[in-house]
Amino acid sequence: MQKKSTRALLWTALVCAQIVAGAAQAQTGADAATLAKGKRLFMLCMACHATADGGPAKIGPALNGVVGRPAGGVPGFNYSADLKSQTFVWDEAQLNAWLLKPTAVVPGTTMAYAGMPDAADRKALIAFLGSLK
Ligand code: HEC
Repeated sequence: MQKKSTRALLWTALVCAQIVAGAAQAQTGADAATLAKGKRLFMLCMACHATADGGPAKIGPALNGVVGRPAGGVPGFNYSADLKSQTFVWDEAQLNAWLLKPTAVVPGTTMAYAGMPDAADRKALIAFLGSLK
């Protein structure tokens, strides 16, 4: 009896874990391998961007929560006039265009980054950015 209920409990826990994992995946729309790839690619950004509020000030604004945030939206960060004057929200499409060629989106930007030519790389990096809350 004891054994049987333990097994049932374990089974329930396993099913729950799978549901939670599935939900997390659905939320970001990316699997673990894509997120891991995005995290590796983020090394290209880390010199200039933090991923947590209140961290040490860097050359660029913190990027946690950037997906869904208005452009130029980190309070107190000294954006270029051109980025500050933008009225769009950073969604997947805007980030994709930005990462391909920042100056194509905001010509007067001070972000010194030429761009990421590989579409799959950009997709993975954006998925990783979306996972930073
Ligand atoms: C050499 C430093 C540098 C590197 C490398 C860099 N950035 Fe930036 N980034 C900046 C600066 C500076 C700004 C602010 C630009 C402005 O005000 O025009 C910025 C702005 C941004 C913004 C707009 C944020 C907002 O709040 O509107 C995003 C998104 C962004 N960077 C993503 C990235 C990603 C992803 C990478 C890695 C591929 C990256 N950056 C690499 C310096 C950098």
